[in-house]
Parts: sequence; structure tokens; C-alpha cells
Amino acid sequence: MTIAPDRSGEITRCFRQRFAGAPTHWCRAPGRVDLMGSHTDYNLGYVLTLSIDRDTWIAARPRTDRVVRLWSENLRAESTFRLDAIAAQAGRRWSNYVRGVAKVLRGEGLALTGFDGVIHSTVPMSSGLSSSAALECATATTFEALGGWKLDPVTKALLCQQAENHFVGVNCGILDQYTSCVGREGCALLLDCRDLSSRPVRLAERIQIVICDTKSKRQLAGSEYGLRRAQCEEGARRLGLRALREISVEELHRREQELPAEVAKRCRFIVEENQRVLGLAAALPAFDRAAIRELTAASFRGACELYEIGAPAMHVMMQAMLAAPGVIGARQAGAGFGGCMVAFVEKGSADAFAVFVRKHYFAATETEPEIYAVKAAAGAGVMAEP
Ligand code: GLA
Repeated sequence: MTIAPDRSGEITRCFRQRFAGAPTHWCRAPGRVDLMGSHTDYNLGYVLTLSIDRDTWIAARPRTDRVVRLWSENLRAESTFRLDAIAAQAGRRWSNYVRGVAKVLRGEGLALTGFDGVIHSTVPMSSGLSSSAALECATATTFEALGGWKLDPVTKALLCQQAENHFVGVNCGILDQYTSCVGREGCALLLDCRDLSSRPVRLAERIQIVICDTKSKRQLAGSEYGLRRAQCEEGARRLGLRALREISVEELHRREQELPAEVAKRCRFIVEENQRVLGLAAALPAFDRAAIRELTAASFRGACELYEIGAPAMHVMMQAMLAAPGVIGARQAGAGFGGCMVAFVEKGSADAFAVFVRKHYFAATETEPEIYAVKAAAGAGVMAEP
């Protein structure tokens, strides 16, 4: 990918102001949206995922003193740390994504170079499109570029996930970092979280992916996420499985009475959602309207009734999306509990769709949603001069 001059101009100006001189290295990593497969990743299941054309850039210039000086242009905040004494910083959570990745990479024995860096992101924060993974993967890419070594993308994703799990303290699965590192321009990925393999899935030309941000804060996401994960693990343990991936929908239905009622509901959602991922991976290239509609509707129903990751704003948004012109199907995205949702819309109707959804969502909630089309962008990498 080449450096887009409109954005780099602004970042270069900002770099000059903060650090004097100009950046020498430009790295980027995208956010993601899951097209199908909520919470299946930590159950070692499937996800159909898309790296989007909203990304985080780091414009960097190496230093010789093993210091990392950061400026976040979005938050207009700075943070500085030494590569030989990396600690988390309270009140500067964003910097912990960078610090965490530095610490994990150093732990791997990789040679790290300090740098001055401006961070600039077009991935909205706290909305479920993985702005944190984008920052982690952009950071790892920056250390690669400055250090003159290179990790394979899956290893890079795993190390970034480690940073998030152990340094930032969020027990997420591999989905976000995998998509940000491995994503491909022009297609979705069908990711198998058991062996971390993936294959490209090209959507039919006529399908436009549209993000519908409810703008409702994802307050429960943190605590409830851990709870869901624990319930799935309990279900797997009681069923004698390594992970929920290992049981079919039919067998689970037969054995559900072995599980406490709530655990059974959670497990049913995951096992059925896994099947839906495979279904949608076939329906999107074939432009099978009916299947797209049914699978996405069933995913949302299960997310609300069985996995209970819905929110009032999501129901309002779902209604608006399903009534809008050009819609093929729609569902939740990310961890749920508010945040962004995703719609599959006929190309050419995306504008009318957005106008309709905006109007109806606002009328019901008095909240201005954000509606925008996205396309599949390349995974994390170094950008070349234009
Ligand atoms: C968050 C986590 C991911 C995944 C999704 C839900 O984005 O970071 O690992 O579990 O939620 O699918």
C-alpha cells in the first residue's frame, strides 16, 4: 500500500511540530468487522471476518537511546517510555497497547529500536471495530520496520494478542489481531480459530458492506465478555470437550440437559453460530439473498436470546436496517452490547440505505448514528512512498 498524501501531509505537519524533522517509516494496520461468528473465536470455531479500510497509522523515526516517544493525534496526548523498563501507564490506556506489544516482542528476544512516533487512526474507538488491535498490529509492524526483521503475520497476531491478554489485561480471542495482520484487500477471510488457518472469501460484486454504529456505549462488554467466555469453557468441560468447536449442533441438542440452563443457551448459540459462518461463507460469493437474510437474522436472534449480548439500541438499529432500501441482511458485530452493527446492502443502494437508517434510528433514539460503507483492505504492513 502506498502512503495517501492527504493524510500523510497532516501527520507530517504534526510530526514536525512534536518532534521536529520528518518521519522515516510509515506503518499501518486495519480495524475489522466480523461478517459472521460472534464469540466463536475463543471457542476455537470459525469466523468470517473482514479487514476494513479504516486503519491506524504510525509515522516513525528511529532514535538511538532506546526511548519510545508517542503522540496520539486522535487523543492529542503524549506518552514516553524506555524499552528497557516497560511498565503500564495508568490513565493512558492507549499507550499500553504500544507498551504491551514492545514488552512481548522484547520477551521474544527481538531487537527493538526506540522511535518518535505519531499515531493517527481512522478506526473509531470503543465501537467494536478493533481500534486496539489496529494499534497493536501497527506497533508490531513499526518495530519490524525499524528493527529490520519480519514476523510471519500469524505469529505477529499471536504476539499482539498476548500483549492484549497479559499486559492490557483483556482476555480476548485471536479474531481482532488475526484479521488486522492477515487480512487481504478485496476479500473476507474464513478463519478457523483452531488451527489459525484462513481462506479468502470473495463477496459477490453486488454486495456492499455497511457499518451501522449505534453510538451506544458498550458498558457491559468488559465484565460480561469474561463471563460468557467462562460459561463456554464450563460447557465444554462438562461435555468433556477441549472446546465447543468439537461438538455438532445435533449432538449438542441431544446432550443439552447435561448442562445448567444458562450454560446450555450460551453453548447452543456458539455451536449454531459456527455453522452459520460456513453457511454465510457460501452464500456471500453466490449472492444467495435468502440465505444471507436468514443466517444474519438467526445470528442476531441467537445473540440476543441465547448469548444475551444485545442492547436496546441494537434492536432499534436492526429494525431500521431491515426496513431500509437495498438491505439484504443485517446483524450484530464485535462483542455486542451496543457499538457497531453490520449490514449487507445492494451496491448502488448504500446511500439511500444510510439516509433511511439515519432518519429512523434518530427518530427512535435521538442519537445520531454513524453509517458508512467499508471495503476489504490489506492487513498490517509498511507503506511505500507514493
Ligand atoms: C472482541 C474480542 C474478539 C472476539 C469478539 C467477539 O472483539 O476481542 O476476540 O471474541 O469480541 O466475536
